[in-house]
Amino acid sequence: MSTPYRERILDHFQNPRHRGHLTAPDRVGEAENPLCSDWVRVELRLNGIGTIVEAAFTGEGCVIALAAASMLMEYIQGQSLEDVRRLRETDVVQWLGMDLRPARRACARVALEALKTALTRETSPDG
Ligand code: FES
Repeated sequence: MSTPYRERILDHFQNPRHRGHLTAPDRVGEAENPLCSDWVRVELRLNGIGTIVEAAFTGEGCVIALAAASMLMEYIQGQSLEDVRRLRETDVVQWLGMDLRPARRACARVALEALKTALTRETSPDG
């Protein structure tokens, strides 16, 4: 991994973007890495035409998992649900900028899986 990518990953891990909770999110999804039980929860606020106007995550995980979650939250702000549905693991791996072994791919994937779950699940007014 080149130094710029390593520094970028560490920066997202140490200074995560959009980490926390939203008040009354429209969509919520969680996913767990089955290899280590680390997890990520994604919360989304949408406008009336299906654009993500705010996104936040919480979770526990390694540098790769939390950096990927931070990069993902940064990317999806302002994106349409339709565009976000097209995101793939390869997009996240590309943002990370490194070749990942299968076990590390599971780390990179957990936030994306939480996002995909959130896309299918509307929250009720009770939360
Ligand atoms: Fe648990 Fe990476 S080791 S998410």
